[in-house]
Amino acid sequence: MNNPASARNDRLPLFIIVLLLLASCLLGGCTESTPAVFWPQGEAAREINTLWWILFGMGTAVYLLVMAFVLFALFRRRQADLPGDPQKNGVNGRRLIWFGGVIIPAIILAVTYGFTLDTMRDLRLPSADNRLVIKVTGYQWWWEVVYPGENAITANEIYLPVGEEVLFELTSADVIHSFWVPELHGKMDLIPGITNTWKLQADEPGEYWGLCAEFCGMQHAKMLFLVVAVPPEEFDAWLEAQRQPAVAPTAAPTQAGLDIFLAEGCAECHAIRGTAAAGDLGPDLTHLASRLTLGAGSVSNNRGNLAGWIADPHGIKPGSLMPTSGLSGQALQSLVAYMESLE
Ligand code: CUA
Repeated sequence: MNNPASARNDRLPLFIIVLLLLASCLLGGCTESTPAVFWPQGEAAREINTLWWILFGMGTAVYLLVMAFVLFALFRRRQADLPGDPQKNGVNGRRLIWFGGVIIPAIILAVTYGFTLDTMRDLRLPSADNRLVIKVTGYQWWWEVVYPGENAITANEIYLPVGEEVLFELTSADVIHSFWVPELHGKMDLIPGITNTWKLQADEPGEYWGLCAEFCGMQHAKMLFLVVAVPPEEFDAWLEAQRQPAVAPTAAPTQAGLDIFLAEGCAECHAIRGTAAAGDLGPDLTHLASRLTLGAGSVSNNRGNLAGWIADPHGIKPGSLMPTSGLSGQALQSLVAYMESLE
């Protein structure tokens, strides 16, 4: 019995346990990142979180039970031949397979299925009176955000009145994307030619990161957006500001910036309401300066990043459809000055 092979076998369970502990430590590191699925800030996210913990609890219980059987079997194997009547042992074995392998798993799966269906039904319930509808269209790789009937259009940033359920109409202009604000709700696909409805509600004012949760090409990872939940009166003020056309340039440098915008092809893709720029391939820039990020959450919106983005968008977001501009330093300064005036 005491040969090297059996010594290796003795260490095998220990090796497996160490491996599992190591894996759980490594995977546990993932929970550090934001946004956090485990910090629900809305009713739907709370329901999903509860379901997750139920499934996790049941999975853990099954895992521990199976591991107990495995350890028991390992321990029993070391003893001499099984005592007792071989025929009786066979009958007990078959019973164990029927109960442990068929009946009990079927019950567990039915219960988890029931919990899942119950949560799905709660999440899909249509609301009686949605005051606000927001239409979101996915593009490679940014989000167009339209407030229908309000003449307000923005990108990569969704303002919501806090404590109010808002209805979303989600679609895509190119490939399939997926709309996900982990702290507020689960995922919903944006599919070309189809409009899916969704709803979000934030209980507390704050900024909640959203992301694309369906691989959609090279810059899928830089397809982020921010949900900004604010008190209702602040939301109304924001919406009123967004309805306004762009402020007209009042000084020479900003006027030069607008001229460059129109002359250098920017207006082929971007719209600035109140000017001749009416492109619809890229984000509407009417109130660009009021936004918190550039390049769909790639970098924060400040003068340095804005100049860097216009000069070389591919340095920040390789594969972006925005072409590199060949502007002189002076022209770039004027253009940035104008863009920064678009509050
Ligand atoms: Cu859009 Cu991934």
